[in-house]
Amino acid sequence: MSEQDGVRWDTVYTGRESAAVLDVPQAFLGHADAFPVRGSALDVACGPGLGSVWLARRGLRVWGLDVSAVAIDQARQLAARHGVSGRCRFDVADLDDGLPGGPPVDVVLCHRFRDPGLYPALVARLRPGGLLAVCVLSEVGAEPGRFRAAAGELAAAFAGLEPVAAHEGDGQAWMLARAPLTGRS
Ligand SMILES: C[S@@+](CC[C@H](N)C(=O)[O-])C[C@H]1O[C@@H](n2cnc3c(N)ncnc32)[C@H](O)[C@@H]1O
Repeated sequence: MSEQDGVRWDTVYTGRESAAVLDVPQAFLGHADAFPVRGSALDVACGPGLGSVWLARRGLRVWGLDVSAVAIDQARQLAARHGVSGRCRFDVADLDDGLPGGPPVDVVLCHRFRDPGLYPALVARLRPGGLLAVCVLSEVGAEPGRFRAAAGELAAAFAGLEPVAAHEGDGQAWMLARAPLTGRS
């Protein structure tokens, strides 16, 4: 199934112009200040790297993962065009196989990709105080569909984090939340 996903997304991205303006990912407009300006980030299903390169330009070291080799190539080119290749790493990865291992990060970005099976791994990857920025398609304000989150899915999945901001509606659900600092040695 993911091989088909890869082929499908390669087709979507082939020949597509990347956006000229790099800004905070659309779902988090108005919340850019919640993101740190240093440290490390993981961009899950990064596509052509818009979110990754925005984070890298902000000052973070970023690892972007996506099943589409075309998207990963575009992400590398985007980072090079913006002079942040040195802070970016992009790899083809099929997230159906789980999140590749790696050290805890200051930001986990997962924008417009939904795999509830990955939710615990996204939380586990956060450093204490680290920011989760997740946005998925939602049934709230849209027809139910197998790719859409039911009402309350993000709030339930990330109940152990400290909410920063969240919204559900118009077919989209997003959440910004921080890993607790408690328990830190
Ligand atoms: C709607 S796009 C979002 C891309 C990017 N996060 C953004 O906001 O611009 C969804 C992304 O998920 C990726 N994707 C789909 N299935 C995947 C899988 N099994 N493993 C890794 N990436 C996958 C697609 O290649 C695509 O880039």
